[in-house]
Amino acid sequence: MIDPKTIGEVIYTREDIKKRVEELGKQISEEYAGKEIILVCILKGSFAFTADLAREIDIPCSIEFMQVSSYSNGTTTSGSLKIIKDINVPVDGKHLLIIEDIIDTGITLNNLKKMFDTRNPASVKLCAFLDKPSRRQAPIEADYVGFTVEDNFLVGYGLDYAQHFRNLPYIAILKEEYYK
Ligand code: PRP
Ligand code: MN
Ligand code: MG
Repeated sequence: MIDPKTIGEVIYTREDIKKRVEELGKQISEEYAGKEIILVCILKGSFAFTADLAREIDIPCSIEFMQVSSYSNGTTTSGSLKIIKDINVPVDGKHLLIIEDIIDTGITLNNLKKMFDTRNPASVKLCAFLDKPSRRQAPIEADYVGFTVEDNFLVGYGLDYAQHFRNLPYIAILKEEYYK
């Protein structure tokens, strides 16, 4: 069991998160008005954000789940994507919104975007609750971002360290002495 004392500063409280998710849901609903979208939840990190965001979206939508893992070959940024669990619906002609908890190097979202583009959707947009632009290696930006963050190791609200802390209702910095 990981010691809860390893949790440092809380950077976004439950209330901060709720407010920002409401704003994003409203913005997405307005921008997609008259359309139907497929929300693609990228497991595992995106489970909490997707569940909250979906309930702030008031246009017709369906929710699909996918789990991936990215590998970089170490020298280039074109790491390949391993699909652990794919969605099981056709997406041609559909509007897709890919939902992530965080963009870090961008390798995961960059690969996902490329992969979905080959399936002939009507559109693909990206929504990430957190964006850490200082770490970017792949040329990708999200269309919707909750908060832009500094380069700290963050946990909570879906984000894990060694699979722990995803259940925290807030986002906090993991103390450096713990993972270094
Ligand atoms: C994390 C996070 C994003 C990805 C971002 O997932 O949830 O999916 O890394 O990193 P990148 O921008 O550098 O690609 P992780 O691979 O840890 O899996 P998890 O969601 O199951 O925790
Ligand atoms: Mn993830
Ligand atoms: Mg993770």
